[in-house]
Amino acid sequence: MKRAIITSALPYANGEIHLGHVASTYLPADITTRFLKMTGTEAYYICASDDYGTPILIQAEKEKKTPEEYVKFWNKRDYDDFTAFGIDFDLFYRTSSPENIAFVQETFKKLMQNGHIYEQEIIQFYCKFDKKFLPDRYVIGRCPYCKAEEQYSDLCEKCGRVPEEIEEPKCSICKNPPTKEKTKHYFFKLTNFVAELNQWLDADSHLQKDVKKYVQNWIKDGLVDWDITRDISWGVPIPLDAAKGQVFYGWFDNHLAYISTALKFLEGKGLDGKEFWNSADSYHFIGKDIVYHHYLFLPAMRIGIKKEFKLPDYIPTRGHLMLQSKKISKSRNWYIGLKDFLQLYPADYLRFYLTMITPYSQDDLNFDWDEFAARINSELIGNIGNFVNRALGFTKKSTGGTIPSADILDSADTEAQDKIKKLAGDLTLLMEENHLDRALKKIIEFSAHFNQYFQKKEPWKGGSGTNNCIFISVNAVRSIAISLYPFLPESSQKIWTQLGMQGKASEQKWESMSEILIEKGHALGEVSPLFKKVEPADIQAQKSKLGQ
Ligand code: 2FM
Ligand code: ZN
Repeated sequence: MKRAIITSALPYANGEIHLGHVASTYLPADITTRFLKMTGTEAYYICASDDYGTPILIQAEKEKKTPEEYVKFWNKRDYDDFTAFGIDFDLFYRTSSPENIAFVQETFKKLMQNGHIYEQEIIQFYCKFDKKFLPDRYVIGRCPYCKAEEQYSDLCEKCGRVPEEIEEPKCSICKNPPTKEKTKHYFFKLTNFVAELNQWLDADSHLQKDVKKYVQNWIKDGLVDWDITRDISWGVPIPLDAAKGQVFYGWFDNHLAYISTALKFLEGKGLDGKEFWNSADSYHFIGKDIVYHHYLFLPAMRIGIKKEFKLPDYIPTRGHLMLQSKKISKSRNWYIGLKDFLQLYPADYLRFYLTMITPYSQDDLNFDWDEFAARINSELIGNIGNFVNRALGFTKKSTGGTIPSADILDSADTEAQDKIKKLAGDLTLLMEENHLDRALKKIIEFSAHFNQYFQKKEPWKGGSGTNNCIFISVNAVRSIAISLYPFLPESSQKIWTQLGMQGKASEQKWESMSEILIEKGHALGEVSPLFKKVEPADIQAQKSKLGQ
C-alpha cells in the first residue's frame, strides 16, 4: 500500500487563524490528504502549533500570562477553528511537546558530532534594567530605510524590510536605550551543504520548478551560517552545560516537529515511525514567505543527520491571500478571522471559493466579497446545486425516488456515460500534480455538461428517453458526490445521503466515481436543496465592516 505524510506550515500559537492562513496551506493540504486516503494511500495529515519564539514570549508577558498558558490557549483555539473549517488532522500537536524537545536536542547533538555546529561570540542588545538580552522584537526603534518609528529590530512592518541596524534602539519592555553585550551563540553551518542542496534541487523531482530556480539563485548569491541561539527563557533548551539559560531559535525546532509529531502519531498506532516516514511520500504545504526555511534550512538539517529521515518529496508552495486587493495585516486589522467567517457562511462555501481562486503557483490571490458571492451563487449553487437538486428532485417526483432501468441509449446518453467513465482519470492527473483548482473546475464542467444533458433530454415531458435520463443523471450525481468529497466534505456527504447510499462518501474508492453503480430499483433518500444563496445585502454589510 502506498504511504504519505502530509504537513502544513505550523501556525504560531499567537493569535487567531485567518483566511490568509488557510488558503495557501491548510486547505490544499487537507484536500490532498482526503484525496490520497480515497485512492487507498495510507496517508496521515500531521500538524502542530508553533509555540516558541520571541513574539510569543513578549505577548504572553503583555497579557500577564505564562508562555505555557498563552500557547495552550491558542493551540486549542486554532485546533477548534480548523476543525470547524473541516480541516481533518490526524494529529494536531505542539512544538513545545516533550517529544519534540527531546527530538530537537538529539538532532542538535548529532549535528554537532557531524561537524555542522560551531560557537561564536556575538554582540547583542542588552537591557540592564530588565537584565535581559534583547533579541528580535525585544528592540524597537526607527527603521533606517523608511524612517517609520516604533518598528521591531528584526522587521519593519511599514516597509517590510529587515533593518540591518535599527536607529535609536529602545528596549520594548521598559523603553530605555539598550547597551551592547557579548554573548556566545551556536551557529548551524548552512554553508557546509551547498553541494548537497544543489544536488537535491537539480534532481528530477516533484518540487515546483519556479521555486527551485529561486532557491538555486539564493545559493549562487551565497548562503550564510545560521545563528540558532536565543538568550531568552522560552524555547527548547540548548542541551549543553555551556549554554545554560539559552534556547534554540524557533526555526531550528519548529520543522523538526513535522517529524517528532509524525513519530508520535505513528508509534501511537503501533507502527514503526521511522520506517513509515522513510517509505512514505512526504508533503510539506507552505506559503511562499517561508520558502527559504523549507528549501534550505530544513533539508540541510536532515542531510546533516545523514538523512536518517528522508527529505521532502513535495513542498507545495502557494502565494499570499489579499483581502479586497490589499495586503492582509493583523496589526492594521485588515483580515477576516476564520471563526468569524464561519459564523456567516458554511465551511464548504469558503473551501469552494478559496480552492477556485488558489492556483498551484506563487502568484498572490485575492479574496473579494463580490466575487465570493458571484461564484457561490452561480457556480456552486447555480451549477452543482442546481443539477443535483434537479436530478434527484425530478426522480422523486416522477418515480417516487425509485431508479428505473435504462433502455437503448441515444448519442446524448452515451456521451454522458462517457463523461462519467472519464471523470476519475481526468481528476486524478490534476490532483496528483497539485492542481486542485483545476480539478474543482473540471467537476464544475462535468456538472455543467449534465445540466445541459438534462435540459436537452426534457424528461419532464415523459418521452421515451426519460428513464435513461434519470438513470444516467442519478449516477452522475453519485460521481459528483465522490469527486467533491476532498473539496467539500460536508456537502458531499449530504448528496450521498440524499442519494440513499449506504456507508459514507468518504469511504468510497476515488476511482469508483467513474462506475455506474446505482442500479434500477435503488431508492433515493430525502431530497432537499443543498445550499442557500448568498444575499447581496449580507455581502454589502461585510464590505461596510471593512469601510467599503
Ligand atoms: O511562518 C510561520 O507561521 C511559522 N510558524 C511556520 C513554521 S513551519 C515549520 F514548522 F516548518
Ligand atoms: Zn528594558
